[in-house]
Amino acid sequence: MTGQAIEHASRDEITALQLERMRWSLGHAYDNVPFYKSAFDNAGIHPSDLKSLGDLARFPLTTKDDLRSNYPFGMFAVPQDQLVRVHASSGTTGKPTVVGYTQNDIDMWSDVVARSIRAAGGRPGDMVHVAYGYGLFTGGLGAHYGAERLGCTVIPMSGGSSDKQIQLIQDFKPRIIMVTPSYMLSLADTFEQAGIDPRSTSLEIGVHGAEPWTDEMRREIEAKFDIDAVDIYGLSEVIGPGVGQESVETKDGPHLWEDHFYPEIIDPETGAVLGDGEEGELVFTSLTKEAFPIIRYRTRDLTRLLPGTAFNMRRMARIRGRSDDMMIIRGVNVFPTQVEDLICADNRLAPHYFCEVRRDGRMDKLTVVTEASTGAADDASRLNAARDLAHHIKSLIGVSVHVDVRAPGGVPRSEGKAKRVYDLR
Ligand code: DLL
Repeated sequence: MTGQAIEHASRDEITALQLERMRWSLGHAYDNVPFYKSAFDNAGIHPSDLKSLGDLARFPLTTKDDLRSNYPFGMFAVPQDQLVRVHASSGTTGKPTVVGYTQNDIDMWSDVVARSIRAAGGRPGDMVHVAYGYGLFTGGLGAHYGAERLGCTVIPMSGGSSDKQIQLIQDFKPRIIMVTPSYMLSLADTFEQAGIDPRSTSLEIGVHGAEPWTDEMRREIEAKFDIDAVDIYGLSEVIGPGVGQESVETKDGPHLWEDHFYPEIIDPETGAVLGDGEEGELVFTSLTKEAFPIIRYRTRDLTRLLPGTAFNMRRMARIRGRSDDMMIIRGVNVFPTQVEDLICADNRLAPHYFCEVRRDGRMDKLTVVTEASTGAADDASRLNAARDLAHHIKSLIGVSVHVDVRAPGGVPRSEGKAKRVYDLR
């Protein structure tokens, strides 16, 4: 089947392919990675026990800690001389997680990113401005190889240097930009500060991901740039960007490229597999990766699996948050995306924010820091907007918070993934 055909495969074709590939992947991991051999042996399960896709639930889950304990190359299933590349995800604490790719892995990754850009509305010949960071982070190079594979002209700009970004966008006239949603908004500011209307650029499509964002934020980006903004999902442990992609036609959450990455949703407390439509933690099993097979990897991303629409492959609901970013404030679970929805819905506020959690005596105290939009920057408007946001957070999310509305430009801008939570407890 060609790359184009598989996107439109029927459910039966997809599940048959998944079963065949899953058998191979489990065997490959068991035979070549001592960690998986002992984990399967300890669980009393063998790759040959997989008779149906549902049997996967009998295999053990893998966590980020497992990857860390095998730092740097202990999870690799091929000798080092067969690796053509490594990437690493920056651990906020401790060692990074290292992942590796054979040439076939890079080809598969390029194919799924090419497929993603096509689903986003991109075509061969388009010019693509890549503002995801290049380097150990998978965003820049992943987007780059995929865009080349589709037959696009790539501008490998990387993150940062906002003045240069907007200059190149004006001079080269790309049709597509690939960048985190938070940095896209920061670029809108840079355009405006330079006296240029961001709606006047050549850009037609934004392919945004690497961090949680909401439909409200999509509307902000689309309105500010007059483009279609679509969601790309991925994580280094599974491959990088391009694990899933939202269709520009339906804009209803990323379709997961299930012919290479098998998704499950589990109850994060018990590990039990949940049905489609139920919210829980997303877990992936790679079906074709050679260098770094990953079996039942817990992403810590909270979402639901939904039926396919633009393609038969299943979709995921937009990620509500990572379990790591969930703040528990006096017993109430709060995700930054919930706060983001309310900030974006108020046009007196600009879509830039972070949350700060402190302990005040024995009480958790949450401060939401955001900023005024340029039209509402006077003291009285800022105070009113702060009061209203605190009121909405209290009534809709259920926690009392302090809101600090800073002057325009008062919230530091991200040039990549935005940090939304500072836990100072
Ligand atoms: O962020 C890969 C990537 C690059 C995806 C560019 C999309 C675009 P990591 O650095 O390993 O890899 O971080 C992966 O980022 O588990 C999610 O928590 C979050 N994430 C990625 N894409 C989305 C998205 C890259 N579309 C972690 N929506 C994942 C929400 C996302 N969260």
